[in-house]
Amino acid sequence: MMIYLDNAATSGIKPSRVINSVEYALKKHSANPGRSGHRLSMDAALAIYNARQKIKETFGADEVENVVFTLNCTHALNCVIKGILRSGDHVVLSDLEHNAVMRPLEKLKNDGTTTYTIAETFEGDDDATVKSFESAINNNTRLVICTHASNVFGNVQPIGKIGELCRKRNILFAVDAAQSAGVLPIDMQKMNIDFLCIAAHKGLYAPMGTGILIARKPLKSTIIEGGTGTDSFNLNQPTDMPEMLESGTVNLPGICGISAGIDFIKSRGIKNIYLHEYELCHYLFERFMGMQNVILYNKSFRPFEKAPVLSFNLKGFDSTEVAARLNDYGIAVRAGFHCAPSAHNKYGTQDVGTVRVSPGIMTKKEDVNYLLKILKKI
Ligand code: ALA
Repeated sequence: MMIYLDNAATSGIKPSRVINSVEYALKKHSANPGRSGHRLSMDAALAIYNARQKIKETFGADEVENVVFTLNCTHALNCVIKGILRSGDHVVLSDLEHNAVMRPLEKLKNDGTTTYTIAETFEGDDDATVKSFESAINNNTRLVICTHASNVFGNVQPIGKIGELCRKRNILFAVDAAQSAGVLPIDMQKMNIDFLCIAAHKGLYAPMGTGILIARKPLKSTIIEGGTGTDSFNLNQPTDMPEMLESGTVNLPGICGISAGIDFIKSRGIKNIYLHEYELCHYLFERFMGMQNVILYNKSFRPFEKAPVLSFNLKGFDSTEVAARLNDYGIAVRAGFHCAPSAHNKYGTQDVGTVRVSPGIMTKKEDVNYLLKILKKI
């Protein structure tokens, strides 16, 4: 039995209601939704509609049709970036972005299509962060993308304030909610978010291979075309949502898992989930402060300023070596570079990476105490 402290990569222990729901879908809903007129197909389509409805309500989307099922959060971000940007457009993003944002933008830049500017974020100073985004905007800025919370250092960004800035300047706003959906409150309408990209296998407890894009504004093009079960004689991709972005058979068992995951979150309460995970990180942060051999990167670890993700290093050790030693003691963490080069540059960990601890709702205080005991031994 491992102590799983890698929930930022995927929620390691799925609630039994998610497991049951996936099993039920495999047994009872193995019919292709939206393709056939028989009862099984219609039941499957209804299960998907119900999931869309729950997602719409949970994240403050306007229309159920704007909820799109994707393979993962990276897929959702690619749909937005490549579906919105046109030649000459400029993008502003934060210095904490994951490669799911950096690489598509770099590709478009190398293709000579678009340019981007990285806005510096300021830990613990939201106004300075918003000003930094404002200064990075130019006359060609069409899209601002920001991670809600860094997957390496946990820093929560002032999404509502950046959304307000984008609305005033008439710029589209996309949020990478890979680390925050299901953990921190998100209301797309109140926060002026046009595109919300979600890793459903993380904070929504669904199986891996599930992501969500909620698009409140139309996308101009697609990255995948194909059968949608609608308008079959039209060889052009339909522009109706969500079909436009959902070519091919959807992951119905995964979507049923999302639906059950949302029920789980509602039964526990997002705030309670956050506080449980945050308090474990905070406890660890405080203990680490008293350990001379631990290098911490965050200035502070205040509630709602940090997602439940804590990075550190041990003096004289490579981060991957620490993770390997922890693995030997039955503790699962992620170490090295967390697909976010700019975040590592910002905190000076570009050579060593970090050891990242990310507790989940199932993590207990004794798990964290065991981690501390083993780290002291190392
Ligand atoms: N993006 C995921 C992580 O941070 C996989 O671990």
